[in-house]
Amino acid sequence: MCGICCVVSLTSSQRALHNHVYELLRHRGPDHSQDVTTNSLDPEYSCFFSAHVLHMRGSLTPQPLQDDRGNLFLWNGEVFGGLTVEPGENDTKVILGYLSACKSPSDVLSILGQVKGPWAIIYYQKEEHCIWFGRDFFGRRSLLWSWGLNESLFTLTSVSSRSLDPRSSVCLEVPAVGVYRVDLKSRSQRESLKVEVYPWGDLHSDFTWEGLPSSVSIVMNNSGLVLLSPTSPMNMSTTDVEKNSCRSSQPSLDDLKMLLASSGKQETIHRLVDVLGEAVHRRVQHLPHQCNPHQAKVAILFSGGIDSMILAVLADRYIPADQPIDLLNVAFKLQESKLNQGLGKKVRNKGHTIPDDIAMSKFDVPDRITGRAGLQELAALSPKRKWNFVEINVTQEELKELRVRNICHLVHPLDTVLDDSIGCAVWFAARGRGFLSEGTQARQHCSAAKVVLTGIGADEQLAGYSRHRVRFKTSGLQGLVKELAMELGRISSRNLGRDDRIIADHGKEARFPYLDEDVVSFLNTLPVWEKADLSLPRGLGEKLLLRLAAVELGLGPCAVLPKRAMQFGSRIAKLENSREKASEKCSRLTTS
Ligand SMILES: *[C@@H]1O[C@H](CO)[C@@H](O)[C@H](O)[C@H]1NC(C)=O
Ligand SMILES: *[C@@H]1O[C@H](CO)[C@@H](O)[C@H](O)[C@H]1NC(C)=O
Ligand SMILES: *[C@@H]1O[C@H](CO)[C@@H](O)[C@H](O)[C@H]1NC(C)=O
Ligand SMILES: *[C@@H]1O[C@H](CO)[C@@H](O)[C@H](O)[C@H]1NC(C)=O
Ligand SMILES: *[C@@H]1O[C@H](CO)[C@@H](O)[C@H](O)[C@H]1NC(C)=O
Repeated sequence: MCGICCVVSLTSSQRALHNHVYELLRHRGPDHSQDVTTNSLDPEYSCFFSAHVLHMRGSLTPQPLQDDRGNLFLWNGEVFGGLTVEPGENDTKVILGYLSACKSPSDVLSILGQVKGPWAIIYYQKEEHCIWFGRDFFGRRSLLWSWGLNESLFTLTSVSSRSLDPRSSVCLEVPAVGVYRVDLKSRSQRESLKVEVYPWGDLHSDFTWEGLPSSVSIVMNNSGLVLLSPTSPMNMSTTDVEKNSCRSSQPSLDDLKMLLASSGKQETIHRLVDVLGEAVHRRVQHLPHQCNPHQAKVAILFSGGIDSMILAVLADRYIPADQPIDLLNVAFKLQESKLNQGLGKKVRNKGHTIPDDIAMSKFDVPDRITGRAGLQELAALSPKRKWNFVEINVTQEELKELRVRNICHLVHPLDTVLDDSIGCAVWFAARGRGFLSEGTQARQHCSAAKVVLTGIGADEQLAGYSRHRVRFKTSGLQGLVKELAMELGRISSRNLGRDDRIIADHGKEARFPYLDEDVVSFLNTLPVWEKADLSLPRGLGEKLLLRLAAVELGLGPCAVLPKRAMQFGSRIAKLENSREKASEKCSRLTTS
């Protein structure tokens, strides 16, 4: 993953990039940094490009990459399919090669529309005096735009800083709804700056461009030029529901096995395992050479829940047997007082008894406990593999310090309580600094893996969240399928940009197998009732298809764990004011 940036001044005077933003960009691309400035007198403008490369494979390709016509290309992405990149070729070079040969905007769109994989780009066409930019269909890579309230300045950047003066500019995520083109010739003194957008398929009619200053106007290109959506449309069918049944309200693995035997879904399950397996395969091959061969090259954000367990089992298939795999498991320390409170409430509400060890260790949060159980299952399935279960214990002091120093800037411009909790949890998890237990001893471990697999996208596509149950109860399958379509459409602005900024800060690359184009296309063709059956109890009905696949893959008890959101599983949400709502603005992000 790389850090890319461009500062455009529509006067001849150059503008520098803020030092802090430069520093944050360098975290994303620690292996090579380079700046290029372009000036033009007629039309009058000056562009400052800054690119920071994370070297993944092959020989290092510096950016901004320039072709012989002076066009400049900044690429933060991976080609996992679509365009051919031969082994030994570099994707940055290959794509610039294609773009250089483009004669018209429709050629540019056709190239970008073919890429399968995550990307964000900035592409400057010198003769045309224009800048193309945008993010892939799902928005798996971050790109922000910041508009000077003084209309003569704008910035595109992978990451920004909360300390920039909000009175002089507006910073937002670039909506992942299409590819954009700014014609630097087009601005006359009095008019606002025009940004043309070429949407992915049809832009949803209720999409609005929120928060842009009046000095910018977004123009839909009505020439009919669009990008082809890389996935099949979602199957909205809600008829012909198959009935599943389960008598117990606390489902067991046997209930799931019975469903598997009676479901007649074997073929669908095999296809899911194949397509998801291939997605994982593409994301764990051709990895950078590690100085120390005993270090893992791949890490997984790991709660022991079904999404991460399936990723681990599939990764195990494709990663050479002599390489370890790091399982990153994060836990936040409970305060003594909250520990008592929290447990007391549980006992009262649910009548559960609390195992002694929960009360004993302040880091034994729910995800730690399921994580350890998951590790046992993996070790039983693949005993020769070295599984590094990395226990990442975070204290409140460390959380406070790093939130102010790093994390609040990476989350920016998002700002809710949920963004804060998830941002912090993912940042510490992805850093990979923790302990491995070896018998009664604990040994320090720092994950050196540059690739971090995350399970994001499974809940959005397979109805994993409790709000999906609410929706199903109130408006049936029709409501549910609409909710899923809506959530997949907004996953870039809710999660992906943020998670990319957070994980890349460690000089690591987030990869999202559940959001592989082929996986999404496959799941989209299925009717909703094959993916989930929310008439079944928790731990069974949500993500039903994935649970069936887990059984098929040989997994055990983890296949019937109910969904638990990371902020609760890691207990970070418990550290904070329990009365605040997830969607509220988070004061902890701004009071620094
Ligand atoms: C292309 O070069 C960049 C920068 O060196 C590197 O990160 C990337 O992995 C290379 N891509 C391929 C396909 O070799
Ligand atoms: C806008 O930027 C131009 C060029 O740097 C500068 O001359 C002008 O004073 C700025 N205007 C405001 C309102 O900041
Ligand atoms: C749409 O794009 C075409 C090709 O770039 C361009 O000629 C045309 O002016 C654009 N239309 C609008 C409304 O911007
Ligand atoms: C981390 O937390 C676990 C509890 O989940 C505990 O057993 C372990 O000792 C802790 N390690 C350190 C170094 O604090
Ligand atoms: C949607 O699912 C139904 C039921 O399986 C199937 O008959 C139909 O062909 C699917 N539609 C699409 C567009 O895939």
